[in-house]
Amino acid sequence: MKRGLGRIFHNTQAANGRTNNPSADDRTMPVEVPLSSNGKSSSAADLIRIDDLVKDYDGPIGPIHVLKVVDLEVSQGEFVGIRGPSGSGKSTLLNMITGIDRPTAGQVIVAGQSLSDLNENELERWRGEKVGVIFQFFQLLPTLTILENVVLPMDFARKWKTKERVERAMSLLEQVELADQARKFPNTLSGGQQQRAAIARALANDPPLLVGDEPTGNLDSGTSGMVFDLFEKLVAQGRTFLMVTHDRELASRISRVIEVRDGKLIDTNGNGRKP
Ligand SMILES: Nc1ncnc2c1ncn2[C@@H]1O[C@H](COP(=O)(O)OP(=O)(O)OP(=O)(O)O)[C@@H](O)[C@H]1O
Ligand SMILES: [Mg+2]
Repeated sequence: MKRGLGRIFHNTQAANGRTNNPSADDRTMPVEVPLSSNGKSSSAADLIRIDDLVKDYDGPIGPIHVLKVVDLEVSQGEFVGIRGPSGSGKSTLLNMITGIDRPTAGQVIVAGQSLSDLNENELERWRGEKVGVIFQFFQLLPTLTILENVVLPMDFARKWKTKERVERAMSLLEQVELADQARKFPNTLSGGQQQRAAIARALANDPPLLVGDEPTGNLDSGTSGMVFDLFEKLVAQGRTFLMVTHDRELASRISRVIEVRDGKLIDTNGNGRKP
């Protein structure tokens, strides 16, 4: 799936005015999740909690019921795959979790924040700091170098001092083995390199949640295996990662896979069986 540059630009926007540099430990601290308004209890270890989520879109002959009363809990540090036929609502589900779109009904709580409590500006700031999004077609800004693409979300969030941002971006590019490509423009890099740059950008503000919408869908199998290895490494470091994928082989490497079917979510292991 494709989204415009405006959308990714908004994804990177944040301005919380914080100038302190959080310790790496912040990421692994339990997030306090308040009781949901419907009285269901929440576990402090849930990074994502979805209650009674419904999403309808307007269709030509009435509403299209894409997500029909969906519940989901994802713990901190989990790697969760999302599968399902084309048009089943996988991207819609991600859009509810990242606050790119709003539910018709129900509640989404991410990192202790009920998204329905935020207005559009607050949601953009929240997303810029708390969620790193990785797209199928990378969505790097073509007029910026790789390094500038990675610095950009930090410029919006202002979580790091200006002079620290380039150094941090270089260290993220080193993590994805792209330091030597930092001054190049995206269109001079291979698909796998561009996706690794997009991963570095997603990590820019050290978000607790990473989300990928078919992030290996535009890569050959060797390259997608390498990118997937990187995702596994990030999860091993304590990140929480939600990844939509059509790739059965990759899905079989993920211990928890959610299938979106007929507007419902079905929890399975990576082989498609219920755990
Ligand atoms: N903004 C929108 N307005 C109207 N209908 C929409 C909108 N976004 C999605 N839909 C519809 O919602 C359904 C689910 O779409 P979604 O993009 O979530 O599917 P998907 O599972 O991600 O599919 P794919 O694997 O092809 O990416 C589809 O029927 C789609 O046409
Ligand atoms: Mg999709």
